[in-house]
Amino acid sequence: MSTKKIVIDPITRIEGHLRAEVEVDDNGIVQEAYVSGQLFRGIEIILKGRDPRDAGLMAGRICGVCTNVHFRAAITSVEDAYMIEPPKNAQIIRDLMSMALFIQDHVVHFYHLHSLDFVDVTSALNADPKLTSKEAHKYTDHPFRNSHSHYEAVLVKLQNFVNAGKLGPFKNGYWGHKDYRLTPEQNLILISHYLEALEFQASISKAVAIFGAKTPHPQTLVVGGVTSVADMLNPQRLNDYLFVIKDAKEFITRAYLPDMKLIAMAYRDEIKAGLGRANGNFLCVGGYEFEGEQNLFSSGIIYGHDFTKIEEFDESKISEEVDRAWYSGDAKDNEVCYTDLNEDGTLKTAKNDDKYSWIKAPRYDKKTMETGPLARLMVSYSKGNKLIRSFVDEFLKDTDLELIDLSSTVGRNCARAIETNYICEYIFKLVSRLIQNIKYYDTDTWTKYDFNALEKDAKGRAFFEVPRGVLSHFVNIKGEKIENYSVIAPTTWNATPKNYDGLRGAYEEALVGIKIEDTSKPLEVLRVLHSFDPCLACAVHVIDSQGKELSRYKINTL
Ligand code: NI
Repeated sequence: MSTKKIVIDPITRIEGHLRAEVEVDDNGIVQEAYVSGQLFRGIEIILKGRDPRDAGLMAGRICGVCTNVHFRAAITSVEDAYMIEPPKNAQIIRDLMSMALFIQDHVVHFYHLHSLDFVDVTSALNADPKLTSKEAHKYTDHPFRNSHSHYEAVLVKLQNFVNAGKLGPFKNGYWGHKDYRLTPEQNLILISHYLEALEFQASISKAVAIFGAKTPHPQTLVVGGVTSVADMLNPQRLNDYLFVIKDAKEFITRAYLPDMKLIAMAYRDEIKAGLGRANGNFLCVGGYEFEGEQNLFSSGIIYGHDFTKIEEFDESKISEEVDRAWYSGDAKDNEVCYTDLNEDGTLKTAKNDDKYSWIKAPRYDKKTMETGPLARLMVSYSKGNKLIRSFVDEFLKDTDLELIDLSSTVGRNCARAIETNYICEYIFKLVSRLIQNIKYYDTDTWTKYDFNALEKDAKGRAFFEVPRGVLSHFVNIKGEKIENYSVIAPTTWNATPKNYDGLRGAYEEALVGIKIEDTSKPLEVLRVLHSFDPCLACAVHVIDSQGKELSRYKINTL
């Protein structure tokens, strides 16, 4: 049997520059996959020699989307190095900003980056507004903006786009693919929510900015705490924040979650067949204090979908290699070592040591891992996390699915939507805790320290669950300056290239075995990759530490 190579470069509707090459057999089944980070960035090099207190503002520039989480992880790694613990209120304010970012990221990801892989925009023009309204009631008792006149207005808007021959925000979608399965009415529901989500995007950003001064690139975190004291003490600001979150909760429960149920039902056979499933190794570092011992996310490791055996997370098992990434393997500086493409313009992948990506290869106990909302859900649920269990159970009951089914392309999206919903509940608890503290005159937001009295040499690290998965920052301070800095971002885990080990990462593993109906329109490849919410700007970094170096950091999980 012959194989044919399909190259997609660039993959659009993601953050950054991603290339995918898949080898398909005569039946269109993917036999092998190579994903490649196509952008080199070197923020870590810029950080060298800087004052550690400035790390946050610079590391925040790693990505234009994930600004807030790199800012926080950098500040936290410096605090870890100096053993400075910020006050409780500062942690809560940081959490409030992080949680708002989760919500923003997930909603924007589904509607604006991913939904057009399932939604046929032109088909929606044939929808009957009355039937659409009825259809929406199948997935929730209280559908979001569900009047006939609303759908009529959306149809007029859509028709105007089509008449102008521009298709507005939809012009990059695929048209007329035979795997678009939704009815015209279902398509119209999704299109309506796509447009609503544009406004949602603006509104939820305010929640980050209320305590962050601005977003992207908030300004208010400092080593030792936060500077948004006046915002915290102003009841109006807290109220504004809560108002945005309450609004978000409405959209999530009445539009986002029902839409995921709709898609889960339409693509039930694919979910049941485990289409887009990776190897079932899940990594979650947990975090975000919830109640007593219980965190919002539970930490742990699952191998091969064995939900009965959860191993404890041990950061000393993390290593990172560059065998097949464009760096020279032995130099401590990891010098750039770019090898050109083949003559036909494809990646060099024929040999076991051919290099094909700017993304390095992180491993946990020498294995490739999936990280992100699905991994968090699988680990937390399997560990009996009280908060998460009820939300997951309800979704599985409503869709007649089992836990294992979520390990699929569509399931990954379901996990993200479920997570968005319980994060709102968590936020309400956080805000009431903050109000309680203020009521009892606990208004500390900064832990005082004397920089000149701190150790001149120190090492620190921070692990966080962030919207796309596990983020870790490592800082090595020498003579009051940053000597080394390194980042392993969620997309680095999921989009890892193969190594000498030949192991496929989550992206590559999820692609192998899928069937591509029309090789000139490889929509199925986009679906799989988009389901991970790739962020390539975050993924590609120059990292000075080799695996051994990383393993020296002590565990101090949140
Ligand atoms: Ni990013």
